[in-house]
Amino acid sequence: MESSGVFLGPFIHSERFEQVTVVDDGILIVRNGKVVLAEALRGRDAVTLASAHGVLGSPVVLRPGQLLLPGFVDAHVHAPQFPNAGLGYDKTLLDWLATYTFPLEARYADQEFATRVYDAVVRRCLGAGTTLACYFATIHTESSLQLARCVARAGQRALIGKVNMNVNNPEFYNEATQQSIDETHSFVDSVRAMQNSLVQPVITPRFAISCDMDLMKRLGDIARTKDLHIQTHISENIGEVEAVRGLYQQCSNYADVYDKAGLLTKKTVLAHGVHLLEEELRLLAGRGTSVAHCPASNTCLRSGMCDVRRLLDAGVTVGLGTDVSGGPSPSILDAIRAALDTSIHVSFSKKNYRPLNYQEVFYLATLGGARALDMDNIVGNFAVGKEFDALLVSVPDPDLHVGPLNSLQLLQKFIYCGSERNIKEVYVQGRQVKQGF
Ligand code: GUN
Ligand code: FE
Repeated sequence: MESSGVFLGPFIHSERFEQVTVVDDGILIVRNGKVVLAEALRGRDAVTLASAHGVLGSPVVLRPGQLLLPGFVDAHVHAPQFPNAGLGYDKTLLDWLATYTFPLEARYADQEFATRVYDAVVRRCLGAGTTLACYFATIHTESSLQLARCVARAGQRALIGKVNMNVNNPEFYNEATQQSIDETHSFVDSVRAMQNSLVQPVITPRFAISCDMDLMKRLGDIARTKDLHIQTHISENIGEVEAVRGLYQQCSNYADVYDKAGLLTKKTVLAHGVHLLEEELRLLAGRGTSVAHCPASNTCLRSGMCDVRRLLDAGVTVGLGTDVSGGPSPSILDAIRAALDTSIHVSFSKKNYRPLNYQEVFYLATLGGARALDMDNIVGNFAVGKEFDALLVSVPDPDLHVGPLNSLQLLQKFIYCGSERNIKEVYVQGRQVKQGF
């Protein structure tokens, strides 16, 4: 279902990395789910303007302290891991996977369990303002399809991956190679058969330790022949990087493993990338492959501090990920703050280093994420022709403001002091998916 409407009030969005665009006295007209006008009103009559664009009805007029922002993009999140959010940060990546993550994910063989959790996960993500999510599910085809159905019911936009893993895994959570391939075909075809323009399948080899080269090559072939997105993990943790070096001695580095498998494409997003080498960054930039920066997870699992400025300077596209349950929070607002913290911490040990500022990280959370998922022709900001995925936010603690704040100050208050409570309405493709309260 698509929809139309008119919004009057300030809106802010990113058109490029360096700086946000602020339109104070804005009019934003949405027709059939798409932005048809987004500019300053400049004294014109809103109703006349809207009807000239074929949109009737009374406008939504923003109240003082309110702002319209593009929806958040979570470029990396594990839906099945939500029950573990906040648990198990006494371990680092490989022990954490074996102790906490694989046993939980194995439970999604039970479809009833899966549907109950996934319904709640999608509601939590939408409530937190994530209008586009790139989800890992589990190895189970049927419950991964349940996730796709939950997303479709809730009206979220998402990429959804049935996970592939065929080696070095516990017996209770592993697939045979041919079964993994057959199930992937079946999953992709079933999601496409839903014919929901908001929901797409994504090829999801877990990482190079959990899959062998044969499986990864065959998944690369499926992605190419069916024109699919790809997601996996890379260089999150030093122990992981060393294990990959040991397993693939014929490859020159971790990124080269994925490249030899044909997995590095313009539609590929790699989570973490904390420990990538310069030559790997050059390879990713050359392939148009993106990185999902997951700062909260990198801290909780003590994986390291990802220097995002370095990735961006190398020409790699970057988005933000919550990586639940590597990270404890499904909120991209929390990911924004974690990214700002990490960047400042990185700067303490580097000369003349410019940490990311809030406008740059706001870009990562919106247009950057859309670019990382190769969907910036559809969403990411309010450019005319894009689909209207948006948040109506109300800035926190108006009683504590001394005088009115300008729009950029409202954005700062929201980013640094805001929470889910300040996200009053959420829209996907012009349709309201979270009501005000
Ligand atoms: N690497 C392989 N699998 C995972 C996972 O589930 N979470 C994180 N953070 N890293 C991974
Ligand atoms: Fe992850």
